[in-house]
Amino acid sequence: MRTPIIAGNWKLNKNPQETVEFVNAVKAELPNSSDVETVICAPAVDLPALLESAKGSELHVGAENCYFENEGAYTGETSPMVLKDMGVDYVIIGHSERREYFHETDEDINKKAKAIFANGMKPILCCGESLETREANKAEEFVEGQIKADLEGLTAEQVSNTVIAYEPIWAIGTGKTATADQAEEMCRAIRNTVADLYDESVAEKVRIQYGGSVKPANVKEIMSKEDIDGGLIGGAALQPDSFLQLAHYKD
Ligand code: 13P
Repeated sequence: MRTPIIAGNWKLNKNPQETVEFVNAVKAELPNSSDVETVICAPAVDLPALLESAKGSELHVGAENCYFENEGAYTGETSPMVLKDMGVDYVIIGHSERREYFHETDEDINKKAKAIFANGMKPILCCGESLETREANKAEEFVEGQIKADLEGLTAEQVSNTVIAYEPIWAIGTGKTATADQAEEMCRAIRNTVADLYDESVAEKVRIQYGGSVKPANVKEIMSKEDIDGGLIGGAALQPDSFLQLAHYKD
């Protein structure tokens, strides 16, 4: 049985004070982690405030990125070793915004996945096609290529503990959600790719989220699909009320 995972990706939003206000507004009302796991992934500068205010609650903490080296002459980067020391559980890697604006390659993302596991955390690995690729009927092929390259060399156990987020680029921040059937179709294809690369038991364990304009009004339908185990949510995870409604999609 896969535990559903509802994760917010705050992107470049909120300061430490707003972070504490958010956590104080949600923490007493979050679902039990064994029922629905909740995560907030925040900018690196907000992580100390997020960790401190979320202590003792059901909320898990994630970073939005990290580097693949623990230390050294890498000006401006964030160390996965330090994230782990601080108490971070998850790190988003391969978000389309990082692939597009910061030119991250599958090779970088693969190195980051290995560094995250080496430090005892779990990656939330994002993948997803552009509108152009979808319209050319190449979406599945494209996403499968990303998954193969990003998971290269990971052990079966590591992949079982990976969260994969399918986020079609055309649905991010656009209000244009993939239909639940489109999302399910790709999440199923991703699971099949994992089964081909590893085996059925790994494919059964890996959690696959959908991301792209998920909101309280559509979360239930999306989460009703067999191969969708969670959501990675931007805009609708910024307000406490809306995040709580997402977290309680089962109610
Ligand atoms: P929105 O929910 O704002 O569309 O963002 C999705 C996303 O990119 C989450 O990582």
